[in-house]
Amino acid sequence: MALRLAAPGVKVIIGSRDPAKARAVVDSLRPKINQGVIEGYANQEAVQQAEFVVIAVPYEGHAAMVAGLKGQLRDKTVIDAVVPLNKGRPFVPPAGSALQEAQEILGGEAPVIGALHNISAVGLQDAASSLGDVLVCGDDAAAKKKVMELIKRIGARTFDAGPASHGYVIEGLTGVLIYLNRKYKSKHASVRVTGIGE
Ligand SMILES: NC(=O)c1ccc[n+]([C@@H]2O[C@H](COP(=O)([O-])OP(=O)(O)OC[C@H]3O[C@@H](n4cnc5c(N)ncnc54)[C@H](OP(=O)(O)O)[C@@H]3O)[C@@H](O)[C@H]2O)c1
Repeated sequence: MALRLAAPGVKVIIGSRDPAKARAVVDSLRPKINQGVIEGYANQEAVQQAEFVVIAVPYEGHAAMVAGLKGQLRDKTVIDAVVPLNKGRPFVPPAGSALQEAQEILGGEAPVIGALHNISAVGLQDAASSLGDVLVCGDDAAAKKKVMELIKRIGARTFDAGPASHGYVIEGLTGVLIYLNRKYKSKHASVRVTGIGE
């Protein structure tokens, strides 16, 4: 994701629980980008300068991660890409979805928009690989629009896929994509919307 965003010149800040790890990842990515800026910091520091904050951690760490950032996200837009999975199988968490869990924790401090759940890391790393469509959901229309504009810059089509209550469907779909990858020996199954804008 960092590579795809940096390619069109978006400044990317990678956060980690360990700032040395963030810096090492940044050093490994720099030779792969022609332009743009990539920096690495500890999570708390990383969000300070950000306009968009992408939450992309395993579901087990999701609630604690969002709670740990609470108080620092005002005037930012949170993009939640987390898929609740148990041994590769999707499940619906108590809040209804990871997205709604983040909303509950943040309590209106920042809009939370669900996106990127169905885009594979393998597809993102291969700049020549075409990406699937990105279904974007959330309850804040202006934030959703901003997120859709940002994601278009990585070369994916985006669709406004409705309110946050649709989050569990879009998150869960990734469990189906993981199954398809295993079944058909692929690494980047994704979704494509047909019948709109054709
Ligand atoms: N991989 C994909 O293709 C893909 C596609 C769509 C959606 N997703 C979703 O995106 C999220 C991240 O996926 P991923 O494949 O990038 O996972 P990952 O490689 O296992 O984790 C990403 C990073 O999260 C941090 N992390 C790990 N456990 C954590 C915890 N308990 N608390 C806080 N941070 C933790 C680690 O960074 P540090 O050690 O540096 O802190 C790790 O490098 C998941 O929810 C996944 O379902 C993944």
